Amino acid sequence: MNRLRHIAAGLAVALALAAAAGCAKRAPTTAAKGTPGNPWVIGMSQCNLGEPWRVQMNADIKAAAAKHPELEVIYKDAQNQSTTQQAQVSEFVDQGVNLIIISPKEAKPLTEPVRDAYRAGIPVIVLDRKVEGEDYTCFIGADNVKIGREAGKFLVNLLGGKGNIVELEGLMTSTPGQERHAGFMQGIKGSDLKIVFTADCKWLEPDAQREMNSALAKFPQADAVNAVYAHNDPSAHGAYIVAKLEGKGRDKTIKFIGIDALPHEGVRYVKEGILTATFQYQTGGAEAIDTALRIFKGEKVPKNITLGTRIFSQDNVERGGEVIE
Ligand code: FRU
Repeated sequence: MNRLRHIAAGLAVALALAAAAGCAKRAPTTAAKGTPGNPWVIGMSQCNLGEPWRVQMNADIKAAAAKHPELEVIYKDAQNQSTTQQAQVSEFVDQGVNLIIISPKEAKPLTEPVRDAYRAGIPVIVLDRKVEGEDYTCFIGADNVKIGREAGKFLVNLLGGKGNIVELEGLMTSTPGQERHAGFMQGIKGSDLKIVFTADCKWLEPDAQREMNSALAKFPQADAVNAVYAHNDPSAHGAYIVAKLEGKGRDKTIKFIGIDALPHEGVRYVKEGILTATFQYQTGGAEAIDTALRIFKGEKVPKNITLGTRIFSQDNVERGGEVIE
């Protein structure tokens, strides 16, 4: 009898432990929402993970979310296809996630899926690239017009108000490409800087290499190109490589300017003397998690959160760059 009682007690303890372990892993229906046992579920749709900057954005989100066991983030990679990304947003809605974070490839094609999710009552945080209209909860990103304008002003100064520029644009169906161009035009306004060659390089280094080849072939004279304004560091780097491979020394005479300033990418290029300057473009990953938490707490969040920028140039890179007010 005693033995039986012993076994029964042991069984009860084992069952309780199993239940507790299960509770830590999976949501029991009774646990309050937003607890480790029943976390808020965030669907994150990244337009691609082929570029270091986007890998960094996901890493920033992951690091911020790791501090909050009451959050669970599901990641999807659209592999640079807007149609794939459209489907992913709809899948998140069907799945019933509690919030969506999206860094859209292009503005127009992603506007409708974001609107549908938002109107279905799911908060949507749009990161770095915009969608059209106002049907989302919060946009987080740096001011790309300002970054473009600062790049323009920097080159006006550097070249003494006069010179020929090759502009290697980002994907022009995405808002940072459009805004970095518009800002640059403001920055060089009134000077004698001229854009002699422009191409949409879609943010991709191989495209930038191809376009820079065309630019150098079109302008073969030694001083025909004075600077390259590339909308991101991979494109600036691609342009530099092509100038170096040309073998006429133009890698030394042309000034290469980029945007992003990842420590292991653009900032390193500045330190190595490849780029004259790069402008920081923050990923907003940590801010997105912060904002999601505020939304879950029922707080009202701003429609726009604008992230700051820094310039890293040959003069200040060893000091960690300089904030641009
Ligand atoms: C990465 C990237 C960055 C750029 C950003 C603009 O996909 O091209 O290099 O700053 O996207 O959205």
